[in-house]
Amino acid sequence: MSPWWRHAVIYQVYVRSFADSDGDGIGDLAGVRSRLPYLRDLGVDALWLNPFYPSPQADAGYDVADYRDVDPRFGTLAEAEALIADAHAYGLRLIFDLVPNHTSDEHPWFRAALAAPPGSRERARYLFRDGRGSLPPNNWASAFGGRAWSQVADGQWYLHLFAPQQPDLDWTNDEVRAEFRSILRFWFDRGVDGFRIDVAHGLAKDPAMTDLGAGQATSGPAVEGHPHWDLDEVHDVYRDWRRISDGYPGDRTFVGEVWVADPARLARYLRPDELHTAFNFTFLLAPWNAKALREAIDESIRAMTAVGAPATWVLSNHDVVRHVTRYGGGATGARRARAAALLMLSLPGGAYVYQGEELGLPEVTDLPAELRQDPTFFRTQGADPGRDGCRVPLPWSGTAPPYGFGPGKAWLPQPPSWSELTVDRQTGDPASMVSLYREALRHRAALPALTEGPMTWLPTAADVLAFERAPGFFCVVNAGEHPAAPPAAVRGARLLLASDPLGSDGTLPPDTAAWYLE
Ligand code: NOJ
Repeated sequence: MSPWWRHAVIYQVYVRSFADSDGDGIGDLAGVRSRLPYLRDLGVDALWLNPFYPSPQADAGYDVADYRDVDPRFGTLAEAEALIADAHAYGLRLIFDLVPNHTSDEHPWFRAALAAPPGSRERARYLFRDGRGSLPPNNWASAFGGRAWSQVADGQWYLHLFAPQQPDLDWTNDEVRAEFRSILRFWFDRGVDGFRIDVAHGLAKDPAMTDLGAGQATSGPAVEGHPHWDLDEVHDVYRDWRRISDGYPGDRTFVGEVWVADPARLARYLRPDELHTAFNFTFLLAPWNAKALREAIDESIRAMTAVGAPATWVLSNHDVVRHVTRYGGGATGARRARAAALLMLSLPGGAYVYQGEELGLPEVTDLPAELRQDPTFFRTQGADPGRDGCRVPLPWSGTAPPYGFGPGKAWLPQPPSWSELTVDRQTGDPASMVSLYREALRHRAALPALTEGPMTWLPTAADVLAFERAPGFFCVVNAGEHPAAPPAAVRGARLLLASDPLGSDGTLPPDTAAWYLE
């Protein structure tokens, strides 16, 4: 059997919106611990937790002030250790989030850098530069809108590819490299099974800091020759880290958040001595369309196989519009999301489930401006609504907000319609989204074909995807507008699970997927 991370289903816990134990309206580690039975029963293999370290929360914890502790809003270090122990006792692995591209502006290193003069060792850990007259050193832009440079009192500028509260580190600096080796060891020593690497394609910058050219945006995937995304030098960092993870027992793993031009560039991060896996944003970004999905799948598998890495599949996360909404919203979006779940969970490799997708949660699009917290919203003067709409706290039970999220009012309001989508309401209803995920994950765990079985496409109509995972497992997805019969190869097989009822003659209605076993 291959290492767990080659085929794991990893559930993304957005801690502040998962479960609140103390009533401050913000989810916490004790909340996660209390809901571990739910996650075990759902049938996932591992959890990835978004950052819970001490942080001023300028970017929901992606501005880390201390990498070796827990923010009091989320708990204590002892609580994190207890969570690791409890998760392991439930058979769940744990992946923490590592943020190496930038620290918080309240990190002791950045405070020291502000207090020290230009040219000092303290400033050398970050990217301080002199401006061009009264202008910043170059035209780089922040991924959240506005420029990527802020000026300090003595006139120098520092780089922040995200918010001004997130100064970029200088990864050519030996102290920076040593510090992150030590942080990895700190958590690996405490039993963490792996790390999700934030902005993994961004650590190296062109030392000449040339201006962004035409077509070289800050947001969106990197393109060839970009001065701060996907530079070759970044790979040295991951070779170094892989030596560290390989030194620990128990198949520790890295998953990279790597936004690059295409799967071929992505695969470079997954060479045998670098990261183990990376999120497949090509698949996430594909529209609900058989041709686009098939191309994303083929391209991904081809590129990953070339470097011996498994593919991964992901439909949503805390940075993108939830896929029920992306796929059209309402009943159509929900129906497509059900079919997409069966597609994703039967493809070869690992899969990511973002909290709430197993409940069919849509994006919340009508949050009032005064309650929004994402810096993207503010830095674009509201032109970009930001990511709060996919971060609304989970509905667990009851008929009124906060739907069992915690004893107090949740940090973002949950819509009234979510009374129909609570975990309690859906549990035991065989037609619910959560039942579909549970069933799918149960089959996936029981069928060796879904773990190790090679995949082969079957011939179908243009709007249909159909493939076999040997031995004897078939998935058919009708992404078209008309009913479709399953291909001939599938006809003798037994129906295992369908995202919605099939026709009496076995045809798949539009936006339906089905699993079969020979
Ligand atoms: C990617 C994270 O997923 C996102 O939430 C964050 O804002 C940026 N990186 C900056 O750390």
